Amino acid sequence: MIDPKKIRQDFPMYRNNVTMQKKPLIWLDNASTTFKPDCVIEAITDYYTKETSNSHRGDYDLCYNMDMKVLESRKAVARFINSDSREVVFTSGTTNSINLVAFGYGVKYLKEGDEILLTQAEHASNVLPWFKVAEMTGAVVKYIPLEEDGRLTPENLEKTITDKTKIVAVAHVTNVLGFIAPAKELAKIAHKHGAIFVLDGAQSVPHIKTDVKDMDVDFLAFSGHKLCGPTGIGVLYGKYELLNMMEPFMTGGGMNAKFDMCGDVGYLEPPLRFEAGTQNLAGILGLKPAIEYLESLGMDNIEAYEHELKKYAVEKLQETGCVTIYNATSEGGIVTFNINGVFAQDGATYLNSKGIACRSGQHCAKILIDFLGTVATIRASFYFYTTKEDIDALVEAVKTAKEEYLNAYFI
Ligand code: ALA
Repeated sequence: MIDPKKIRQDFPMYRNNVTMQKKPLIWLDNASTTFKPDCVIEAITDYYTKETSNSHRGDYDLCYNMDMKVLESRKAVARFINSDSREVVFTSGTTNSINLVAFGYGVKYLKEGDEILLTQAEHASNVLPWFKVAEMTGAVVKYIPLEEDGRLTPENLEKTITDKTKIVAVAHVTNVLGFIAPAKELAKIAHKHGAIFVLDGAQSVPHIKTDVKDMDVDFLAFSGHKLCGPTGIGVLYGKYELLNMMEPFMTGGGMNAKFDMCGDVGYLEPPLRFEAGTQNLAGILGLKPAIEYLESLGMDNIEAYEHELKKYAVEKLQETGCVTIYNATSEGGIVTFNINGVFAQDGATYLNSKGIACRSGQHCAKILIDFLGTVATIRASFYFYTTKEDIDALVEAVKTAKEEYLNAYFI
């Protein structure tokens, strides 16, 4: 059972009664980033105040302690997604993780005429790296059509995939519409055609149970900051044999076994092969308590609670009679809408005046606008600490938005 009011006691952003526009902050931008519980902040502070050292670079106790802590964090991630810890690469975030697959695998193995399949609902981070791969290899980017409501189905992948398809890369939960992709079935179809399956988990890993073995995904990318962890830390999961085939797209200290003056270089095994340079150690140490915090709540409970919030928000917003909702049928805790007659960014500015933080615009999913038939939307996104009262406040603000905003700014 999720009890958001009790949970809020663990979060300084709530305990400190943060305000916006002199009103209590109502945070509905969790798809963008999330608040951090004490345990995460303490782990980061401990790194800087009691445990500072580098990792894999010293033979003294503090450094050994850091090596062990990095390993423990890697093991926590592996347990959380059901992988082996050798398959967990620390990166700076989802964007970095997808770029690592694109440049380390895509550029190395794709050739002219090969196909990369995406959808129109992808975030820039799961589009632009593949455009680069296409540009550098002569491969072609194609799009799996979405259902009328924005859902990705196995049938539509089956219709689009060909034996030229080498990569299928989609979001597990899309960041604007919040549909959960049927990853297991999609992976099966990709594999049947000899393609690898890359899952953007930025919006799914924080919200639903993730089991890379069960889904049989080849790569999974996600960020720490969207799951109550620190910014600047993320993960690329990759099947070990695939990681082992990949080119490191960054080279330097910490990832090589040897090199000489003639340029003869030997790399370390994965995951270290992909972790050149001093890592974000405070981030790595803060990721573990974030994961443990989510585990203590239970991912199934989090998913069920957010789904309940989503249904509540859709129902209450629809009752106002003054909004257009673009994703009423999706499962994730995201509601994307417009206040009728108010441009999205004006709407979000008005919500800000009420202390409500929602994202507006295109949400980095710029090729989705043709599908939605609108240039911009407002997105309210929930997490386990969101309350129904937060949603009520949003609904009340929406009701007065058109009149008050237009009066204040345009009359
Ligand atoms: N990817 C984040 C979002 O969707 C920033 O808002």
